[in-house]
Amino acid sequence: MKILTRFIASAALAGLPMTVLAANWFDQPVDPGADHPDVPVAYSEDGRYYTEDDIPTYNVGEDGTVDWLTFSGFRRYHAECHVCHGPDGEGSTYAPKIKNSAVHMGYYDFYDVVVNGRQVGNSVMPHFGENPNVMCYLDDIYVYLKARGMDAVPRGRPAQKEAKSDSVREAEDACMGS
Ligand code: HEC
Repeated sequence: MKILTRFIASAALAGLPMTVLAANWFDQPVDPGADHPDVPVAYSEDGRYYTEDDIPTYNVGEDGTVDWLTFSGFRRYHAECHVCHGPDGEGSTYAPKIKNSAVHMGYYDFYDVVVNGRQVGNSVMPHFGENPNVMCYLDDIYVYLKARGMDAVPRGRPAQKEAKSDSVREAEDACMGS
């Protein structure tokens, strides 16, 4: 409650319309045609794609081939998050539609909730900060959900994917300690 109060106070100071705060990120529909600064690819590096602000993002080729992280994120999401948040990031009666959250809430806030968890009354998002199966693949999960939120990839397992780069493989191995 304290945090929420502080947030509302700072939002009021920043002059944000209070109505924005009335709804949660996951309740806000996504218009794929609108301007979403955390989405467009500005450059790629070693098999990863980034926006101009260096935020990880997805890439879908004309024939539907997805970047490796989006494909990997599909698998990791369904291993770790799907049980509460429903298949394909669509939400369930128990936990919200986080494909929308991934588009709206911003990379750092998304990370913060997953690392530290959150509790609002009886609604509990666990913290995953010590879970390597989540933390070593959180960029993957984030870009996958953002692609889902933007309707850039259909529901289900992506049919075609880019190869996993050496750099991604090395980073995973280092993170998982193998
Ligand atoms: C045990 C059930 C459970 C699991 C597993 C779970 N979550 Fe959640 N998550 C929740 C609930 C419930 C909320 C809503 C908390 C609240 O009311 O603020 C939530 C909220 C979130 C939010 C905030 C959404 C927003 O719009 O503010 C994000 C992001 C999130 N979860 C990501 C994940 C990711 C990524 C995973 C997998 C690594 C995951 N969650 C696994 C139950 C779960």
